[in-house]
Amino acid sequence: MDLGLTGRTALVTGGSKGIGYAVAELLRREGANVAILARDAAQLEAAAQRLRDEVYGSGEVLPVPADLKDPEQAEAAVARIADRFGTLHIVVNNAGPILQGGKVEGSDDRKWMETFDVKTMGMLRIARAAVPHFPADGTGRVVNVAGISGRSLLPDASASGMANAAIFALTSYLSKELSGKRVRVNCVSPGLIRTDAWVANAQRLGAEQGIDGEQFMTNMADRLGVRCDGWADPSDVADAVAFLVSDRAGYITGQVLAVDGGLADFVV
Ligand SMILES: NC(=O)c1ccc[n+]([C@@H]2O[C@H](COP(=O)([O-])OP(=O)(O)OC[C@H]3O[C@@H](n4cnc5c(N)ncnc54)[C@H](OP(=O)(O)O)[C@@H]3O)[C@@H](O)[C@H]2O)c1
Repeated sequence: MDLGLTGRTALVTGGSKGIGYAVAELLRREGANVAILARDAAQLEAAAQRLRDEVYGSGEVLPVPADLKDPEQAEAAVARIADRFGTLHIVVNNAGPILQGGKVEGSDDRKWMETFDVKTMGMLRIARAAVPHFPADGTGRVVNVAGISGRSLLPDASASGMANAAIFALTSYLSKELSGKRVRVNCVSPGLIRTDAWVANAQRLGAEQGIDGEQFMTNMADRLGVRCDGWADPSDVADAVAFLVSDRAGYITGQVLAVDGGLADFVV
């Protein structure tokens, strides 16, 4: 299926690893110019080189180091991409920490503010900076990546849950606001995705229970009632993102697409 992305320019935040890297890989394969953004400049450059060397694509790969907690850095990053390519068609807002566990009781403000600042505000900052650069021909797209904890109760996941729920709201409001500019805005909502960050986290949490990381991950998927096979691969999320930013999703906006293997207990 041709996604119609050849020659389009995409920004993928958090594109140096995990889900973001998988998205960057797929968009490059589909012929897009891909700008990847993260804080660690060395890791970002290495990821960009890996994309150029290992993934066939006709587009350019541009690493753009920035910390999304800083509004000026977020704005400058988007301006740099728009300067380089003359326009920006696709924004994939993905950067952020993995699930932040912990209870409300006994928590301190910093953890909540940190999650909110990087994820929700980071996505808002990038989207806001991108608006003037979207073309007027209906090829502008935003996909926000916000975990299923914002829609379905996960144990002790309130900090992430609140940040993610706010991103669903941002998606809706932005899709309405940008409809006049013919920009579509959607959300992909992952469940359990096997990224290096989660494998390392599972090893740490498993060690606290006297089990290995793999066993911890299997137990977690069972306990949360995942209906498909265990943990997904980052490429499963990338497939959903690529569809939503493609011409194949031309009549879809303001929606949340769960890529969670049926973890969330929605009736409809
Ligand atoms: N993996 C899952 O199961 C899962 C499930 C639901 C939702 N999600 C969401 O999906 C997204 C990606 O998750 P992942 O597992 O792929 O995580 P990951 O492997 O840890 O990747 C996170 C990416 O975000 C970047 N980043 C973090 N803080 C940043 C900041 N302040 N400014 C700019 N870039 C920043 C990281 O690079 P630097 O550290 O170099 O900045 C990295 O590129 C996250 O938003 C996460 O909450 C993941």
